[in-house]
Amino acid sequence: MPPSYTPKEISGYNIYKSNCANCHAEPLFSTYGFANNGLVLDSTLKDIGRQKLTLNPKDSLHFKIPSLRNLNYTFPYMHDGRFKTLREVLKHYTQKIQNSTTLSTELKNGISLTKKQQTDLISFLNTLNDRDFVVSQKHQINRSFFINTEGN
Ligand code: HEC
Repeated sequence: MPPSYTPKEISGYNIYKSNCANCHAEPLFSTYGFANNGLVLDSTLKDIGRQKLTLNPKDSLHFKIPSLRNLNYTFPYMHDGRFKTLREVLKHYTQKIQNSTTLSTELKNGISLTKKQQTDLISFLNTLNDRDFVVSQKHQINRSFFINTEGN
């Protein structure tokens, strides 16, 4: 950790390492594997996740693990956008994890964090926002690509 991190952010990084890093692994903050992070089946889409493609019941409610970089720009969160804020995401991980036979082992014992720990964790997650990267023209797809391929 470079010394410019605040004590809150360093505390948040340690909380991240103990509770989140197995799935949201550095450096990209995802293993890019699939996991069941304990979400309740959504009532409208009834999206069972990876099982729909593999037809394997073991993949029920497994979704691709997303990166934790640039969370400022990726809300609403989860595959169906059910959470609008990081507070709601942490409420899920600390209070609402749905147990099931396919729940990923990392979450079987739940995650327990005090309000202060949650605030520290959010401070750390905010250090992963990189506005310059997100708005950089270098990383935008050139609009003419779409115009050409759509034949307009
Ligand atoms: C068992 C693996 C696992 C663990 C441990 C885990 N997550 Fe996740 N996380 C996931 C999966 C899978 C998703 C995607 C779920 C979906 O798409 O519905 C996700 C989604 C998220 C998202 C939404 C990102 C977005 O852009 O939509 C955030 C934020 C998040 N996790 C934060 C955390 C934090 C903070 C921790 C630790 C307290 C944590 N996760 C622990 C597997 C995990």
